[in-house]
Amino acid sequence: MIKASKRSQGVSYAIREVVLPARELEKKGVEILHLNIGDPNKYDFDTPQHMKDALYKAANEGHNGYSPSEGDVELRNAIIDREKKRNNVDYKLEDICITTGVTEALQILLNASLDPKDKLLIPGPTYPQYALITRFNDAEPIPYRCIEEEGWQPDVDDIRKNITSHTKGIVLINPNNPTGALYSKKVIKEIVDIAGEYKVPIISDEIYDDMVFDERQHATASLADDVPVITFNGFSKVYLVPGWRMGYILFHHSGELDEVQDAFMRIARSRLCASSVCQRACISALKGPQDHIKEVNRKLRERRDFSFKRLNEIEGISTAKPEGAFYIFPNIVAMDKGIWKTDKDFVLDLLHEAHVLVVHGSGFCSIYGKNHFRAVILPTLKTLEKAFDKLELFMKKRLKDK
Ligand SMILES: Cc1ncc(COP(=O)(O)O)c(C=O)c1O
Repeated sequence: MIKASKRSQGVSYAIREVVLPARELEKKGVEILHLNIGDPNKYDFDTPQHMKDALYKAANEGHNGYSPSEGDVELRNAIIDREKKRNNVDYKLEDICITTGVTEALQILLNASLDPKDKLLIPGPTYPQYALITRFNDAEPIPYRCIEEEGWQPDVDDIRKNITSHTKGIVLINPNNPTGALYSKKVIKEIVDIAGEYKVPIISDEIYDDMVFDERQHATASLADDVPVITFNGFSKVYLVPGWRMGYILFHHSGELDEVQDAFMRIARSRLCASSVCQRACISALKGPQDHIKEVNRKLRERRDFSFKRLNEIEGISTAKPEGAFYIFPNIVAMDKGIWKTDKDFVLDLLHEAHVLVVHGSGFCSIYGKNHFRAVILPTLKTLEKAFDKLELFMKKRLKDK
């Protein structure tokens, strides 16, 4: 047998892992209610028509060759305008690189900045790729606590406690996947102060920035005058094109970041470029009508309100209220009854018994995500109602049997 690399052995992705047993059930004709997929286009959300038209037009106009490795100049200029207008932050053309989704930006950045034994501070719970790609670089992800009772705001003291001379960055995900937390201005400023004090850059993932329900999102770079901030953003979520794989990275205060930025751009050149035709269409995304965002948030707010209320009515479940993105991260309080050994057992039991698919919380952090699950609030109210009714019945049955 030809051996796979040692490095590949630790790679597993909780979000996709639970899909396999669900597929087996579907093969047998069982209908599964999917509350596991972070892809709005799988539900009743669609890409704005003018973006689809722009994609078609770009292909017909001949934008089918390679683009510059750093990205299409017009798209980067449109991003500069957006950053100035939305966040009052100034970027230069060379501080931006367009990537194949935020995922590629994250891979390249961690390749460019982590050596073995380096540490990256990540939110607990987190979007799993941060831990996964850090480990892939033989470095260590260190989760810092986020406080469930405070709507999953980062615990600033815990960040400070975990900083060492090996810390290469503090990751913020705002709004957050999997918790839906929207970070307060105060908390962001406190984290910026810590980063400045210890001379550690902040890596701020803002892919859900305009998906908020009650208050606006504050970009970290807009609150960091003299602290280096590397921001990730992209088109998958707010512009409803996850399959186009369009993301970007922004380097703020490039002085301290020169070396990392240079390494990033060298790696970016070695992978040629992101999709040129999709980049052209994304210019229209930024410059064209933005009406869809209001409508998406209206639908999500309604689904958030319903999910928050309904889940909290179920015995054995309790949840904090998400303020952005499209996730909810309930606590399986009934875990203390010993019915399931792990949250993954709970998820598989729920899948087989009630045919509802969610993702186990420990897949997002073995410490701070444990005994929770992540559900998306993307399905219609009717589907959500059906799923939560099934969950309620399942919980009643399990608690009665106990
Ligand atoms: C916080 C966060 N960052 C990045 C990504 C990946 O984004 P992209 O589609 O741009 O690779 C996701 C996808 O779910 C996410 O939740």
